[in-house]
Amino acid sequence: MPEEGEFTSCEIVLQLLASSHRLMQHSKPYSEQVKLVQLIIGMSGASGVIYGIRLLQVLQQDSSIETHLVMSDSAKLNIAVETEFSSKDVQAMADHVHSNKDIGATIASGSFRSDGMIIAPCSIKTLSAVANCYADSLIVRAADVMLKERRRLVLVPRETPLHTGHCELLLRASQNGAILAPPMPAHYIKPQSVEELVDHHVGRVLDLFDIDPGLVKRWQGTRENANNE
Ligand SMILES: Cc1cc2nc3c(=O)[nH]c(=O)nc-3n(C[C@H](O)[C@H](O)[C@H](O)COP(=O)(O)O)c2cc1C
Repeated sequence: MPEEGEFTSCEIVLQLLASSHRLMQHSKPYSEQVKLVQLIIGMSGASGVIYGIRLLQVLQQDSSIETHLVMSDSAKLNIAVETEFSSKDVQAMADHVHSNKDIGATIASGSFRSDGMIIAPCSIKTLSAVANCYADSLIVRAADVMLKERRRLVLVPRETPLHTGHCELLLRASQNGAILAPPMPAHYIKPQSVEELVDHHVGRVLDLFDIDPGLVKRWQGTRENANNE
């Protein structure tokens, strides 16, 4: 006989069944839980704002991906210098736009569920701030959150040539967990245009998030590519 406060095995089974029934009533069935991929795109003032713009254009085509865009003032300047787009055009490509000064934005907190962040292009100044955790702007704070939460942070740093101080910053960012994907052209795709080069790199960056919009001309092996045999 069970003592007072003890349960028979039959009662335990009944309680378990009842609690799982309650759980089923209160939580959504798995099939109804639509998973949105939340990606943060930071754009800073290095040359190559087109990388950030193409990322946004491509991600806009996928309704299962939600983008959060933050641009520095210098990125806005470079959009005007290097492209036919206005900053407003670029902002319209994102699902959410945050001011770089809004240090209280959702994406400034680790409690915000995101799948990672890409800074494209990434200036040396922004690289320096990320590498040194100097989080006085939203881009850098969100990037630092990615690193502390062990989420994916991909930097597209652009400068040339590089001095040792630049190289040390790249090393420090990498040691802290950032993935470095500088926009170095892949000549094996035999590009016919700058757009092709940009798209290939954008595709390779998205490969790092297992997102494949079909931009990458994948290497087929030397036999298929050799033209002198
Ligand atoms: C047309 C133009 C091109 C630039 N290209 C680069 C570059 O390739 N790499 C870089 O680190 N800075 C470059 N800069 C300088 C940065 O914009 C500058 O250091 C700025 O303070 C970066 O601020 P941010 O990181 O907050 O965007 C460029 C500036 C201009 C106006």
